[in-house]
This record gives sequence, C-alpha cells and structure tokens, in this order.
Amino acid sequence: MLNKILITGGAGFIGSHVVRRFVKTYPDCQIVNLDKLTYAGNLLNLKDIQDAPNYKFIKGDITDAEFINELFLVENPDAVIHLAAESHVDRSISNPMEFVMTNVIGTVNLLNAVRKSWEGNYDKHRFYHVSTDEVYGALGETGMFTEETSYDPHSPYSASKASSDHFVRAYHDTYGLDIVISNCSNNYGSHHFPEKLIPLAINNIKTNKPVPVYGKGENVRDWLWVEDHARAIDTIFHNAKSGDTYNIGGHNEWKNIDLIHLLCDIMDRKLNRSSGESAKLISYVTDRAGHDLRYAIDSTKLQTELGWVPSLQFEEGLEKTVDWYLENELWLDSVTSGNYQEYYKNQYSNK
Ligand code: NAD
Ligand code: TYD
Repeated sequence: MLNKILITGGAGFIGSHVVRRFVKTYPDCQIVNLDKLTYAGNLLNLKDIQDAPNYKFIKGDITDAEFINELFLVENPDAVIHLAAESHVDRSISNPMEFVMTNVIGTVNLLNAVRKSWEGNYDKHRFYHVSTDEVYGALGETGMFTEETSYDPHSPYSASKASSDHFVRAYHDTYGLDIVISNCSNNYGSHHFPEKLIPLAINNIKTNKPVPVYGKGENVRDWLWVEDHARAIDTIFHNAKSGDTYNIGGHNEWKNIDLIHLLCDIMDRKLNRSSGESAKLISYVTDRAGHDLRYAIDSTKLQTELGWVPSLQFEEGLEKTVDWYLENELWLDSVTSGNYQEYYKNQYSNK
C-alpha cells in the first residue's frame, strides 16, 4: 500500500496526464507534483484537479541537490515516478548543456536522495523512470525496437536520456534500488506544447502560418495517444518486477508528410475550409541536423505480460486532439505568448 507518490515533471505534457490519472484513480494516495515550471510546464494543465484533497504541487528544480534532499526529508514519499526532463530535440541541438543538467544530473540527484531516504527498505519503495524510444537510435525501412535493442542515441536529447537510463539501472545493480524503466514512442494529445510537430502544425494551420516540414517529410514516427501512455505507466508501475524495462508504443507508424496531410484534412473540415486549403500551408524547410529516419516500438512484452493495449485508433485520437486545441484557445494563447515568439523566430527564421 503506497501512501505518497512523488511525480516529477507533473506540470508538463505527459506528466500532467499521469498526475491527473493517479489523483483520480487512487484517492487514498497523496500525489506530490514536483516541477520547476520551465517554459514547458504549466499549472493550467492541472486546473481540473488542483484542489483535490490528495494533490499537492511543489515548485522546485531537480538539479538542486540540497533542495531535493530536503524535499525527501519533509515529504518522505513511498515511490517516485520521474518525468521531469528537457524533452525537445531541436532545443537540445541549440543548448545541450541544459539537457545534461536536468536529464542526467537531475536524475542522479533524485537517485541519491532515494538511496539515502529509503536505505534498508528498498523492497518497499519504487523509482519509476520514464524514458523514450529515442535512446535506441534510428531504424532503417524495417525492424522495430525491442527491450533488447542496444542503445545508440544520436541527438543531445536522446544521449542525455540514455545516460539517465544507465544511471537508473546502475543504482539497481549497485545498490539494489527497486527501479523500473519504460521507453515510449512519440506521444500526442491535449496539453502538448506547440514546439513539437503535431501541436505546432495545429496552431499554424489554425492561424494560417506556414507548416514547417523538415527535409522531405519522409521521417517516420510511431504515435501513441498520451492517455494510453499514462495508463501504461500506471500498469507498469503497479505490476513490473524490480529492474524491469518495458517498451510502450501503439504500432502506429506515420511518415511526417502523410501525418501532416491527414491533419490538414481534419482541420479543413473543422474550420469549414475548402478541401486542400490547409495543405497549401505546407512548407518544406531545412532538415534537422542528425535527423533520425524512423522509430518503431515493439510493445509485445507489455501487451503479453501485463495485458496493456492502446485504446484509440490514430485518426480518432488526432480528431480528439484537434478538437481540444480548438476548444482551448485560452491555453494555447497563454503558452504561445512571451518567450514562445522568440523561440519560434530563432528556430525557423533561417530554415
Ligand atoms: P515536457 O517538456 O512537456 O515536460 C517536462 C516537464 O518537466 C515540464 O513541466 C518542466 O517544467 C519540468 N522540468 C524540466 N526541467 C526541470 C527541472 N530541472 N526540475 C523540475 N522540473 C523540470 O515533456 P513531456 O513530453 O511531458 O515528457 C515527459 C517525459 O517523458 C520526459 O522524461 C520525456 O523524455 C519522456 N518522453 C516523452 C515523449 C514525448 O513524445 N513527449 C515520448 C517518450 C518519453
Ligand atoms: P518532434 O515532435 O520534435 O518529436 P521527435 O523529434 O522527438 O520525434 O518531431 C516529430 C517529427 O517531425 C520529427 O521527424 C521532426 C519533424 N518535425 C518537422 O518536420 N517540423 C517541425 O516543425 C517539427 C517540430 C518537427
């Protein structure tokens, strides 16, 4: 029986869905959300549960070891679900050190705190590390990533996540911490910051701005609805053996350009535009440096051992996602004001 779970990065895209799920599903368990509230973290994401009796938010930075140690003394959580990270590949190309600090140093700070705080009782606690399929590198036209695939990260983002995964496993092997890692494919859904492909394209189509497609648009990503990811985390957190790893993915591969065309068709319908109007906004731009060609996750282990299956077809999920963005203009306006404009100018002006 877990009385208190610390969730890091709970104000971000996936974290907010995980926090909401746990707050609602486990009313007898205290959920403490620790988040620095970077540009990607937004408490509006949790407005609907902010007053729940089993929920508490703490603003803080996982790179600050002293703060983290103090937090463990005061809060004494039974388990950690760690999502806090710098998460955007393009930002990691322009500023890799921030990714080293949060994704590597921040993770090790948390591991050191749990090692000390849970000493002698490791079997009664769990450290769940949320990672990405990008640690496995890039696939060619065929094949899929399994849990046995060797790590081969290419971007500063994926290298920092791979490093954090190695540290989490090392603390299991060296000190006996109860850890679990999951590596998930690209997520989509509500509350996604519009710097990643799908929310950026929705926002640009809505506001009649060019939709930037890197290179020829032939790179392939495997898309999973974010609430299916949150459900997978819940399942794995409660059922995995200590030290285990699960891949999470929806068997849902799309070439970027095909996905953008599907999105344009949906947006034409939703915005009462004539067929083909939104697609005129597609603009091919300079490719991302070191752009991984294809990701595809084999989630057979999760499906057969723990019975998880994705709940939504992509077309339905994308439609729901578009509806959410069109119905939540206030959210979109609040995250695209201020620094977002400057980021956008720097990222796309010379492409
Ligand atoms: P996000 O960028 O939307 O959210 C990250 C959150 O972490 C933000 O709320 C931010 O404020 C917080 N944060 C950043 N630095 C922090 C620090 N130093 N201290 C405390 N909090 C900090 O990211 P996301 O897309 O929700 O991803 C969450 C996790 O899932 C990440 O670990 C990411 O690597 C992993 N992941 C993401 C995807 C995806 O498609 N988005 C896929 C697989 C795995
Ligand atoms: P992204 O959402 O940044 O996720 P990741 O790089 O972690 O997979 O990008 C998804 C794909 O879309 C990736 O192949 C890069 C491409 N992309 C574009 O073509 N244009 C864009 O403006 C962005 C942000 C991404």
